[in-house]
Amino acid sequence: MASSSLLLACAVAAAMVSAVSCGPPKVPPGPNITATYDEKWLEAKATWYGAAHGAGPKDNGGACGYKDVDKAPFLGMNSCGSDPIFKDGKGCGSCFEVKCSKPDACSDKPVMIHITDMNDEPIAAYHFDLSGLAFGAMAKEGKDEELRKCGIIDMQFRRVKCKYPADTKITFHIEKASNPNYLALLVKYVAGDGDVVGVDLKEKGSEEWKPLNESWGAVWRIDTPKPLKGPFSVRVTTEGGEKIVADDAIPDDWKADGVYKSNVQAK
Ligand SMILES: *[C@@H]1O[C@H](CO)[C@@H](O)[C@H](O)[C@H]1NC(C)=O
Ligand SMILES: *[C@@H]1O[C@H](CO)[C@@H](O)[C@H](O)[C@H]1NC(C)=O
Repeated sequence: MASSSLLLACAVAAAMVSAVSCGPPKVPPGPNITATYDEKWLEAKATWYGAAHGAGPKDNGGACGYKDVDKAPFLGMNSCGSDPIFKDGKGCGSCFEVKCSKPDACSDKPVMIHITDMNDEPIAAYHFDLSGLAFGAMAKEGKDEELRKCGIIDMQFRRVKCKYPADTKITFHIEKASNPNYLALLVKYVAGDGDVVGVDLKEKGSEEWKPLNESWGAVWRIDTPKPLKGPFSVRVTTEGGEKIVADDAIPDDWKADGVYKSNVQAK
């Protein structure tokens, strides 16, 4: 019967959750997930965090440094990734299809999620700690509440290219403490591979692309004794090697905590 199998599934889940809180059986992480799209489904554990219908963290942020993950283009369909998915921040912005077939409440239909945060409980080779909304989206219609009650489930996933509405462009957020000698740039809403492995900056009138260093999450930084002068062009390299140049994307009167939307997007 559906109800007793649900109870059983949830009892197993509850046992696992309590095992986690008092010293989990450590499972080694799987190989890093890279920008390959071979359609093969891999196994993972899924949990969820935050509000039942929410985007995960209370402040709608996360370890990638994105804000407002409850709003477009993520719309709360986001997740923490364990080490081989989050990759110290390199996995920020990557996209996955996720689905589940057990328990009964699962629809087995893939939904797309974005990596915006990290989790490091070693409970499985791959572990997605999904927003309440994203976890519930793997359920059959009207069964999301029932699925969330399970807390932890087996899930299948595969890397997919990120697709955004046409008006979503690569966007730069200049982090708060930035000044002409220290610029920290958060890169977000990259389509295609979604995640970024290199960011270079070019000052107006210069021919030199200066490589930025990875700082944390999706934030890249440059420290320089010679004050930087805008406007800046920014070159973004995705994990699959695509290079996108946003000419003069950041104006000369840029402000710390300013958000600058480019007019370019990855494929
Ligand atoms: C996995 O990614 C992390 C973060 O980028 C890196 O430090 C580590 O070396 C990678 N592991 C492998 C096996 O490539
Ligand atoms: C990147 O980090 C290295 C090592 O700390 C440093 O020498 C270099 O100046 C940094 N580059 C930038 C662009 O800040």
